[in-house]
This record gives sequence, C-alpha cells and structure tokens, in this order.
Amino acid sequence: MSSIASRLFSVANRTVLITGGGRGIGSMLAQGYYEAGANVIVTSRTEDSLKETMDTILKNSPSQSMEVTPSLSYVVSDVSTREGCEKLASDIGPLLPDGRLDVLINNAGNAWGEPLERESGKMNWGWDKVLDLNLKGVFYLSRACLPYMKQGGETMDRYDPSRIINVGSVVGLMPQDAPTHAYDVSKAGVHHLTKKLSGDLAPYNITVNALAPGFVPSRMTEGLKSYTTFDDIAKNTPLQRLGDGDDMTGACIYLSSRAGSYVTGVILNVDGGTIGASKIPLSFEED
Ligand SMILES: NC(=O)c1ccc[n+]([C@@H]2O[C@H](COP(=O)([O-])OP(=O)(O)OC[C@H]3O[C@@H](n4cnc5c(N)ncnc54)[C@H](OP(=O)(O)O)[C@@H]3O)[C@@H](O)[C@H]2O)c1
Repeated sequence: MSSIASRLFSVANRTVLITGGGRGIGSMLAQGYYEAGANVIVTSRTEDSLKETMDTILKNSPSQSMEVTPSLSYVVSDVSTREGCEKLASDIGPLLPDGRLDVLINNAGNAWGEPLERESGKMNWGWDKVLDLNLKGVFYLSRACLPYMKQGGETMDRYDPSRIINVGSVVGLMPQDAPTHAYDVSKAGVHHLTKKLSGDLAPYNITVNALAPGFVPSRMTEGLKSYTTFDDIAKNTPLQRLGDGDDMTGACIYLSSRAGSYVTGVILNVDGGTIGASKIPLSFEED
C-alpha cells in the first residue's frame, strides 16, 4: 500500500466482531478484514460454518504474505434475543486485546416472504422472526458491547473513534417487489436506529453508520429466485452487475479506518446505483 493509502485506510491491529460471519456477506467481510491485518472474531449460531469460514480465511491468507499476523477466532451465539446478545458480549471479553473492541459489524440477518393475502398468517408473516434478529438484535448487541467501545479521559482519540457498522439494505430505502414486508421494514428500522445511536454515542467517540447493500449472491438471496433471476437484477441495476465481497469490504474498511473517522449517522448505499442513480420513468411502453 502507498503511504497515503496505508495511513488513511489501514485497519491493521484493530479488533473486529462480525455477526453472521459463518457465510455470505459476513464471511466475505471476515476475509477482507483479516487480510488487511485486523483481529477478527466471527460469530453465528452454527459452529461448523464458523470453523469453515476460519479454514477458508487461513487457506486464502498465507501468513508469510502478511506484514502482521492477526488473530482469528469464533464464538457461537444467537443474536436474536437480548440474552443471546449479552452472552456474546460477555464471551468475547477474553478475546479482546486490552479489553477494546474497535469495530462491531451487526451483519447477521434473516428474511421472510409471505403473500399479504395469505389467510393462515403462518410464521406471523415473518414479523417476529425478522424483527427479533434484524432490528432488536442490532440494538441489544450494540448496547451490550458499549463497555468495550466507549472512550473517555486520556484514552480518547478523536481521530480514532470506535465504530459500529449496521448492515441495512437497499430495501430499507425502497421496498422491493416481493412480499417481504417485515424484512423491508426491519432494514428501514436499522437505518433509523443507526442515526439515533450515532447521536447517542458520538460523545463517547463511537461512530455509527449503516451499509445499505444492493444484491450480493448469498444463501439469503437464493430465496429471491422465486420472483426474479440474478441476470434480471443485474440488468436492472444502473451499473449493470451484482455486488460482491470486495464492494462490501471496501465500504466497511473505509468506515473503520482513519478515512471514515469523521463520518457518522450515514447510510452508505453500496448498490450499483439502485437507489441514487435511478430515475422516475416518464415514458411508458404501450401494452
Ligand atoms: N445478500 C444480499 O443481497 C443482501 C442485500 C442487502 C442486505 N443484506 C444483509 O446482509 C446481511 C448478511 O446477509 P447474507 O446475504 O450474507 O445472508 P446469509 O448468507 O443468509 O447469512 C446470514 C448469516 O447470519 C447468521 N445468523 C442467522 N441467524 C442468526 C442468529 N439468530 N444469531 C446469529 N447469527 C445468525 C447465519 O448463520 P447461522 O444460520 O449459522 O446462525 C449466517 O452466518 C443481512 O443482514 C442481510 O439482510 C444482504
């Protein structure tokens, strides 16, 4: 890295907790942060998938190619309940160098789609399952990790705040054309909670931002195949492709480094222009 890039974008030696790190976007972020020299802790409910993430990361990052050898560990957790979030916070304590957590990435999420007109209301149209994890879990885990993140007194460095990054979504900004009511609303809630917490936590030198990804192939997006194809999603994205791990990692590293240290309360769309570059259509094809 050139010296300006390493000064502004380094996350080396920072300690990062990534929820939902067993697959999908969470494991992509874990790979990126580890390669960049951060100490990474991944967490999810399934121990096997966490071990698989760790094996893949170590295989892809030979230690001789790294300037520092960061630590990589996992903790099994369920972040859909207050008790699960508090247990995770307590379990990571011994893994934190100097007791400090530099970056918390609230990435774990689930989705549910069920037509509005369905009479059974099976799974409560997803409301409890989705809000418990996607929204309430973000609040409870952020709160439980504050003792490791708050800065004050002589240790406070206004150029090196602690960071919370909440993974929202484009669908929290514009509803998608699928019956995912609870999911879309949960992500709008994540964005608003991000702004709310950013004001609360600025005095403690903690930035709180949200990443709003567009479509990134993962187990979660497999569910969308009953409504569309990945080719169609890519064609209808202004930048004409889907997102990937580098897109997500680049944005999160920006928000975690010196470069992003003056940014808080922001929803960062990383979506190929789905939200920002779309136009209201004014001419319509005849049927
Ligand atoms: N992929 C996209 O296109 C896209 C777009 C916008 C936003 N997002 C958001 O990005 C985040 C990651 O999505 P993804 O596509 O990577 O999904 P994914 O492949 O389904 O991965 C979800 C991760 O969350 C974990 N998880 C689920 N329930 C959990 C719980 N109760 N406690 C702890 N961990 C739990 C899963 O592991 P276990 O099941 O083993 O616990 C898994 O590791 C989500 O917040 C999603 O809403 C994704």
